[in-house]
Amino acid sequence: MSSDARTGPAPRPTGPLSTIDYNERIPNNVGLAGDRRLQRALEGWQPKFLDWWKQLGPALPTKDVYLRTAVAVGRDGWAHFAHVPMEEYRWGIFLAERDPDRVVNFGKHKGEPAWQEVPGEHRAALMRLIVIQGDTEPASVEQQRVLGNTAPSIYDLRNLFQVNVEEGRHLWAMVYLLHAYFGREGRDEAEQLLKRNSGDPDAPRILGAFNEATTDWLQFFMFTYFTDRDGKYQLGTLKESAFDPLARTCQFMLKEEAHHMFVGTTGVQRTVERTAAVMHEHGTADTLPYGAIPLAIIQKYLNFQFSVSMDLFGSEQSTNAGNYYSSGLKGRWMETRRKDDHVLLDATREMNHVADGEIRTRTVPMLSALNLDLRDEYMSDCANGVKRWNQALADAGLPDRLLLPHEGFNRKVGVYAGHRVSPEGRVLDDAAWAAGVDDWLPSDADRAAVASLMVPEYEYGKFAGWIAPPRTGINDQPVEFDYVHLAEEGLV
Ligand SMILES: [Fe+2]
Ligand SMILES: [Fe+2]
Repeated sequence: MSSDARTGPAPRPTGPLSTIDYNERIPNNVGLAGDRRLQRALEGWQPKFLDWWKQLGPALPTKDVYLRTAVAVGRDGWAHFAHVPMEEYRWGIFLAERDPDRVVNFGKHKGEPAWQEVPGEHRAALMRLIVIQGDTEPASVEQQRVLGNTAPSIYDLRNLFQVNVEEGRHLWAMVYLLHAYFGREGRDEAEQLLKRNSGDPDAPRILGAFNEATTDWLQFFMFTYFTDRDGKYQLGTLKESAFDPLARTCQFMLKEEAHHMFVGTTGVQRTVERTAAVMHEHGTADTLPYGAIPLAIIQKYLNFQFSVSMDLFGSEQSTNAGNYYSSGLKGRWMETRRKDDHVLLDATREMNHVADGEIRTRTVPMLSALNLDLRDEYMSDCANGVKRWNQALADAGLPDRLLLPHEGFNRKVGVYAGHRVSPEGRVLDDAAWAAGVDDWLPSDADRAAVASLMVPEYEYGKFAGWIAPPRTGINDQPVEFDYVHLAEEGLV
């Protein structure tokens, strides 16, 4: 069943366009100049953010980058493109337009006016949700820090940096909420967001997938496809929140997030296109000697990134998730378009679990299984890209196909944790898993093979041999446009 059949047509957007104040040190559309205390607190955090960016942001020295910057939060013409030095990017605070008539759309407060302040009873839970979301944003910048050194083209390098500056802005979005609505505790949490670092053994990022190293560009594309998409779905639930400032923040972040997933979808597609062309030309699946990533390795990267991203949704059954819903903190994906009572007290659903060496289903209360509800939406969305990549294989006249693994494959969280499930969904014993795992997940040798192809290509309009060029450039510019000026250019 398509998402539309389940949820009905999209609602009509409301509200006028509001412009962003760029005269301020911190660009914003939240009237920061009218709240001196908050402004001072955020201006105190700003240099710490910039220090973090210099230390753990992109490592490759650049003069400037063709970046988009938000200039309005309405539907059209919201962004402006120009070459800017990255450290001078105008990170700011942008919330979607306020709808003065907005009400809570689900849970026990359904029909009441949306909250403009944090209710005392939900303060701790809301702050936790904001901290967890905020923690992922700078984490991905840290994970991708050295990728610029092996960029397959200047076009791709620009896209990496665009994603990086926007994840930095998403951190700003969450820090604004912490500073504006959670007092001293919120300010302390904002400090911690810069002190935890991806992969740091003493102070790691909160969620597992954000402590994995992004070793190469294939993994980066898989990350932006699968893990940024997790972000999209988490933001989609927070965008429904009864706490209006959080809802409006997430609504605008989703607009930026679309580009990140575009980078992933097209990045994997271009990788597959190149591999398919080499397979076709040389009549072999062993494309490595011809400089293209073998399809089997692409499949293993896909399996890995999909499974660690599925873990980000948490346990299928969660009392917290049910409570967040009933109290209005976090809705469902497309909440207002769902055709049910939006309270869910009597609703049930089927849930998979593993028993006696096989996957069975049982009926559980819907309210207890909202993490699963979101993960199902995510999973069906993930399948769309795989379909697109397979079209590239079909177009090249090849019978090979990529597959989205079973939801139970390689899982560390929830009902499948502790079980061994093959990509096809068979429950395995340890011996069968050990025999197959090298065919399913990237080995050190696979990662080394991919790494051997990761040579930088910084000449405008040229592309590394393992990836096909894109069909079009960014913002109607040609593919060979000078999207990035490297720092070295000035020295030559
Ligand atoms: Fe983000
Ligand atoms: Fe993102």
